[in-house]
Amino acid sequence: MIAALFHNHLSMLVLSTILLILAPAEAQGNVTVGRSLYADDRNLTWRSGNREFGFGFHPIPGKKDKFLLAIRYAQIPERTIVWYANRDNPETDRGSAVEFIESGYLVLRDPKGRELWRSRSVTDGSHVSHAAMLDTGNFVIVSRNSTNIWESFKDPTDTILPNQELDVGGSLSSISAERNYSKGKYQLRFDGGSLALNQIDMFTGKPYEGYSNLGTGSHLVFNESGSIHIGNSNGSLVALAQIQSPELYYYRATLDFYGVFTLYSYQKTPGGGESWSVFKAWPTDICSTFLDSASQLGIRFGIGPCGYNSICEPNEWRPNCTCPAGFSFLDEKNQYGGCKQDYPNNPEDCSPDGSTIGEDRFEFKSISFTNFPFSDYGIFVPATELECKQSCLRDCSCAVAIFPTSKKDGNATCFKKQLPLFNGVRNRGTLDSTVLVKVLKPDASRKKPETPNQSNDNRDRLVLILGVLLGTSAVFNFFSLAAIALIFFCLFRKRLQYLNGLPSRRDLETNRQFFTYKDLEHATNWFKEEIGRGAFGTVYKGESPSSYGDLVAVKKLDKFAQDGEREFKTEVKVIGQTHHKNLVRLIGYCDEAEHRLLVYEFMENGLLSSFLFGFIRPSWQQRLQIASGIAKGPHVLA
Ligand SMILES: *[C@@H]1O[C@H](CO)[C@@H](O)[C@H](O)[C@H]1NC(C)=O
Ligand SMILES: *[C@@H]1O[C@H](CO)[C@@H](O)[C@H](O)[C@H]1NC(C)=O
Ligand SMILES: *[C@@H]1O[C@H](CO)[C@@H](O)[C@H](O)[C@H]1NC(C)=O
Ligand SMILES: *[C@@H]1O[C@H](CO)[C@@H](O)[C@H](O)[C@H]1NC(C)=O
Ligand SMILES: *[C@@H]1O[C@H](CO)[C@@H](O)[C@H](O)[C@H]1NC(C)=O
Ligand SMILES: *[C@@H]1O[C@H](CO)[C@@H](O)[C@H](O)[C@H]1NC(C)=O
Ligand SMILES: *[C@@H]1O[C@H](CO)[C@@H](O)[C@H](O)[C@H]1NC(C)=O
Ligand SMILES: *[C@@H]1O[C@H](CO)[C@@H](O)[C@H](O)[C@H]1NC(C)=O
Ligand SMILES: *[C@@H]1O[C@H](CO)[C@@H](O)[C@H](O)[C@H]1NC(C)=O
Repeated sequence: MIAALFHNHLSMLVLSTILLILAPAEAQGNVTVGRSLYADDRNLTWRSGNREFGFGFHPIPGKKDKFLLAIRYAQIPERTIVWYANRDNPETDRGSAVEFIESGYLVLRDPKGRELWRSRSVTDGSHVSHAAMLDTGNFVIVSRNSTNIWESFKDPTDTILPNQELDVGGSLSSISAERNYSKGKYQLRFDGGSLALNQIDMFTGKPYEGYSNLGTGSHLVFNESGSIHIGNSNGSLVALAQIQSPELYYYRATLDFYGVFTLYSYQKTPGGGESWSVFKAWPTDICSTFLDSASQLGIRFGIGPCGYNSICEPNEWRPNCTCPAGFSFLDEKNQYGGCKQDYPNNPEDCSPDGSTIGEDRFEFKSISFTNFPFSDYGIFVPATELECKQSCLRDCSCAVAIFPTSKKDGNATCFKKQLPLFNGVRNRGTLDSTVLVKVLKPDASRKKPETPNQSNDNRDRLVLILGVLLGTSAVFNFFSLAAIALIFFCLFRKRLQYLNGLPSRRDLETNRQFFTYKDLEHATNWFKEEIGRGAFGTVYKGESPSSYGDLVAVKKLDKFAQDGEREFKTEVKVIGQTHHKNLVRLIGYCDEAEHRLLVYEFMENGLLSSFLFGFIRPSWQQRLQIASGIAKGPHVLA
């Protein structure tokens, strides 16, 4: 009795142990019509007879509640996927389901039952027998007369396995990043009678010119005895590789997300612990593939495996992507996504003639054995390294200068490059050029160095002078400022372009021109034409006493006679340094004896008051613009 009970318990134990072992997988064998799998924590899969492959939902590592309907190796710990459904949008939510429906399709539905994908079976619906996960890793839907009406091998994603073929019209597409199963930018396909690797245009999906040609033919074969070759209809073939001991190793050939078609092997040792090793890779050096074929043929094939502004260095078969000095990864978690400038090129660094403003704020960081074969816009020879550097430093557009390492003092060629840089390559063995990257010195400010630091002192002075200049009542202030500023929105656009285009360095030297009282008497024809009058003085029209050309407005300050020389000059300096589109530029001044005069550019449109209250009255909208324009003027330093 006790023995029987014990025996019963034992068998229960044995049974539950067996169930536990089998739990993640459904029994292998045929999948009958009407069966389903769900994206949940049970991880149920339809397994192959040899238990090496499993078809089902696989949780995506690092992504909560996201699953992939996929075929993967079932016996090895390293999650390796050889096929997945719905290549354009493969990630599905928890609760999604796949069903093998009566009409002979596999149908993937989201948790709300909406159809996401179905196998493109060729079937009339009445002759379906069953589906099966085969020992080869091929999932098939079989008709009653034993023909395959759908195979995962005929709808490949990024991998082909032994016994699989890729025909003309078929293609492999890479995933977009490690563990990101969205469609990536690489393709392996037959193009014009040869098997080629290419990048695709990410916006249209159209293929670029191939960057690596594996051989001519019409189908890629990975046959039972382990030969990988490109076959042709007339029987000729291009051998690519021959694997060894297929009974001891798993083999797969995958188009990796960095553009290398790689044949991997994995030893089938019980217990695992191994990892995939590379048996062969095409191309062997992805970085210089883009470089070599491009420079020989003059064709560009895409931006390469590292993205814009980055440097690709081969690390065995894989690219190692780094950013040049002064650049960092666009996405710091993704070294293959390109780099951006730490301090982006600033239009303020450039003067209208294209020279760099404040060139001493920049320096060069050199990177040896490196080249950016494209993006040159200026090449000169002979050049010394110093000339090459100076030219790039002074040229605002220049981001990088390239100079041959071996000809430092001689007859070398200087290449100047602009952004974005692409197809950057570093190779200690083959490249003889040094890249000089123009970077902002660590302690340099982004501001123009010629713009003096506006101390609080100076700001206060400006506020003070404006306050004094503006006199008393608000309405009076309004017109006083108007007289100084002569602001007219009809000229704003022109003025804006002009002032923005001018580097302040040059302005500063010339702005504070000194004029004698006699000069200004002549210029204004003895203060003949009065164009305005304010609380602090009178404005006269005049001709420029210097080579500034055209007309000037000369303001004669009467109430400023008492102020000290030093004070007045400081004020002039502050106003002279003030640039704002809504303030008229100060050209010069006169402080001779008791005379205090300021010389401004003349604005053709006359006084604001005559505009405001003239024949054609401005709209309220325009008045508002004028008022806010005036208000913005003094704020320029605040
Ligand atoms: C699968 O079904 C086919 C046809 O019904 C049958 O011939 C075959 O033996 C089945 N295989 C297994 C493993 O049950
Ligand atoms: C299913 O897979 C997930 C992630 O790999 C794992 O955490 C979970 O334990 C598995 N569930 C079962 C029942 O094996
Ligand atoms: C098997 O069935 C399919 C349709 O289901 C048909 O196209 C094919 O010709 C049949 N093959 C044989 C050998 O009967
Ligand atoms: C996966 O790749 C796609 C396409 O490149 C991208 O849009 C998406 O943001 C990536 N997802 C993650 C989580 O990085
Ligand atoms: C595989 O291809 C190689 C090379 O063409 C050939 O020698 C071999 O016989 C093929 N094996 C099978 C099983 O077809
Ligand atoms: C047929 O095979 C020969 C080699 O035997 C090869 O040179 C030729 O290109 C092939 N013809 C075609 C049309 O591919
Ligand atoms: C990639 O290149 C950088 C810079 O040359 C180097 O420090 C790093 O070790 C390289 N990484 C690998 C995996 O080779
Ligand atoms: C420099 O290059 C020019 C033009 O290519 C050539 O004529 C000259 O001999 C070279 N000089 C030296 C020192 O190599
Ligand atoms: C410029 O002024 C700011 C604020 O007044 C101050 O923090 C900074 O140190 C000054 N820089 C220089 C170069 O004087």
